[in-house]
Amino acid sequence: MAVLLTGGAGFIGSHTALVLLEAGQDVVVYDNLSNASRESLTRVEHLTGRSLTFVEGDIRDTALMRQTLEAENIDSVIHFAGLKAVGESVSQPLAYYDNNVGGTLSLCQAMEAVGVKTLVFSSSATVYAESRNMPLAETAPTGRPTNPYGSSKLMIEWLLTDLQAADPSWSIALLRYFNPVGSHESGQIGEDPNGQPNNLLPFITQVGVGRLQELSVYGSDYPTADGTGVRDYIHVMDLAAGHLKALRYVAGQGGLYTWNLGTGRGYSVLEMIKAFEKISEKPLPYRLVDRRAGDIAECWADAGKADRELDWRAERGLEDIMRDAWRWQTDNPAGFGQA
Ligand code: NAD
Ligand code: UD1
Repeated sequence: MAVLLTGGAGFIGSHTALVLLEAGQDVVVYDNLSNASRESLTRVEHLTGRSLTFVEGDIRDTALMRQTLEAENIDSVIHFAGLKAVGESVSQPLAYYDNNVGGTLSLCQAMEAVGVKTLVFSSSATVYAESRNMPLAETAPTGRPTNPYGSSKLMIEWLLTDLQAADPSWSIALLRYFNPVGSHESGQIGEDPNGQPNNLLPFITQVGVGRLQELSVYGSDYPTADGTGVRDYIHVMDLAAGHLKALRYVAGQGGLYTWNLGTGRGYSVLEMIKAFEKISEKPLPYRLVDRRAGDIAECWADAGKADRELDWRAERGLEDIMRDAWRWQTDNPAGFGQA
């Protein structure tokens, strides 16, 4: 039996593929390569010394998905595939609802048709309502997301909740990621954003290698210790390990489970800059500018539920994150474009 990873060629999926292969699982990656390269999987195979099966396909292609689930003897699915650029989702809401919500619907229909009923889903802390009370536990209320990307994640959570309620033999995990960053310690695989990065850490490392001139720090008047935004940055290898534990916990179990995957502590933008400067041993050019629309002051996880129930906790700290992200960036200044 094998695990199918939708979107498994992407940032989080490729790291999870590596962790699953190392744990002895057979892995099938199903990806349309809309935001990834086949090279990430070649490197995963090289790093693990194991091979995986790659199917180039779209999750909205229900027939191909169904055929793949049967042909590859799949017993569970980890569902990473989706579009994730917040700004783009505001200008292209239909593309986001089609790909993320429509794609998940199609995936579930294919799974139901062949009786594969274990699913681990990539959700996000963005589903939580804005709150001044940190940390956020899984019991915190969900909100009305400020953009179609966030809405699509919440809609998918509802879809999966309703599906599991209607048929309790489904085993579903909703994993709410905080801010995934870093790379595998080899520096061989990592985050390879298209165009100018929106997220903080890839922006920092691209300034670090001189691909971008300076970092704009969005807001220095937040009610935080140093005035800049605070987030819970989680190393992607810790995140990947959380998927293996969640999969093992829910597989064949029946039920719907929700877990935060975060570290339980927050760092400000200025702390991130300082940590980067320490690892790269050079100053990072930055400028304090106005707040970014839609941003919140702070956000970090109560990670206790995953600790208690999955025996999972983040093991890598900020230095590991910076060291690994920097190694990936300096060894691959053009991402996977530079094979
Ligand atoms: P990514 O873009 O690197 O990976 C997503 C993968 O899905 C890509 O390989 C892409 O080619 C593929 N894909 C997209 N649409 C597809 C479709 N219709 N059919 C088949 N494949 C398709 O993104 P990531 O950072 O690895 O994120 C993985 C998941 O985690 C996404 O669902 C994302 O929304 C969620 N998530 C990410 C973050 C983050 O900060 N990276 C935070 C919270 C949640
Ligand atoms: C963003 C998304 C969120 C998504 C999350 C993980 C927005 C509004 N939110 O969250 O939906 O779930 O990524 O992918 O895009 N910062 C700078 N300069 C930069 C970039 C960021 O100062 O060039 C600051 C931000 O203001 C924030 C922190 O760095 O305080 C982290 O930003 P980012 O990496 O974009 O993540 P989030 O805003 O948490």
